[in-house]
Amino acid sequence: MPHIVTPWEVKGSVDYDRLITEFGVSRIDELLLKRIKKLTGEMHPLLKRGVFFAHRDLNFALDEYEKGNLFLYTGCGPSGPIHMGHALVWMFVKWLQDKLGLELYFQFTDDEKFLVKDKSYEEIQKWLQENMIDVIALGFDPKKTFFLIDTKHANLIYPEAIKVAKKLTFSMVKSAFGLTNENNVGTIFFTSMQAVPAFLPSVIKKKKLACLIPHAIDQDPHFRLTRDILPKLGYYKPASIQCRFLPSLKGMHEEGKLSSSTGEAIYLTDDPKTVREKINKHAFSGGQATVEEHRKKGGNPEIDVSYQWLTFFEEDDQKLQKIYQNYKSGKLLSGELKAILVEKLNTFLAKHQKKRVLAEKKINQFIYNLK
Ligand code: TRP
Repeated sequence: MPHIVTPWEVKGSVDYDRLITEFGVSRIDELLLKRIKKLTGEMHPLLKRGVFFAHRDLNFALDEYEKGNLFLYTGCGPSGPIHMGHALVWMFVKWLQDKLGLELYFQFTDDEKFLVKDKSYEEIQKWLQENMIDVIALGFDPKKTFFLIDTKHANLIYPEAIKVAKKLTFSMVKSAFGLTNENNVGTIFFTSMQAVPAFLPSVIKKKKLACLIPHAIDQDPHFRLTRDILPKLGYYKPASIQCRFLPSLKGMHEEGKLSSSTGEAIYLTDDPKTVREKINKHAFSGGQATVEEHRKKGGNPEIDVSYQWLTFFEEDDQKLQKIYQNYKSGKLLSGELKAILVEKLNTFLAKHQKKRVLAEKKINQFIYNLK
């Protein structure tokens, strides 16, 4: 089955090479990797391992960075608990913020999630609070990070959103997202809201700034449209750096995107026992049916979800290489591999959950204009 990738639906086994041509994005090549490494002073594992694999205008963004003219923009759609797939994007954003010393505008699209999910406004507001706490706990710099909440900052965002909306037609939105006449009209308007943080800092500071958006590749259709419109309003096209999806525990062939709705994601609020049970029960294994067979033939790390997850979360190349070899040779059993992943995740989550308690009191330090 061919894949379907839009901001609101990811289906089938995602073919990332095909997505590059389908979306018209560029692959991050060796030269760009070298340039990023030169500017940040180190190579992030998610870049080295090709998790962040595509971009638009990244060289332009780095040129503007060198002139002191760049800011970062990313976001969160608050409709449920935060899972590891979201966290990994934001950990990378935090790294970029730290290494490059950049301001970050962080949008919470509570309007979007109310419009597209079968959830009440109140329920979405609850997730907004919870999600802000997780984002803060990931360690963003409060002096340089600005939360924009679509319904709370409407006075700031709406006047700009209508300028985008006036240049965006129903047919452009329809073809970018595959919308039909049955979609609600809020959804049709919504891209205009997601476009705004890409130029709002230029409005606020009365200076034409460049914007770099780190995001998972399913968000690209929003920014493809945004790039068409912004030059017409006198702003730069936003640049982007895009990542693959963390595979679902069920396996890469089942579903392309770690979805909160299937219950098979690991949430940032899961306790150690839940994490162990989920991995043991759901993580698709590339191991053999019996221990004897596994010792003889070895496992297949390429399709083993626990191994694949370690390529996202184990920063140490040598450790990862050793796990790969031991699993492939049959020395390491599936249960043992799962235990390594469980330990890695639970160590991260224990620290995160401690920071979460403190983060709750800091929300007002992050919300734009409340500072
Ligand atoms: N629409 C995104 C979501 O559903 C949230 C979002 C808003 C976003 N602005 C963004 C994500 C910019 C990445 C970059 O999760």
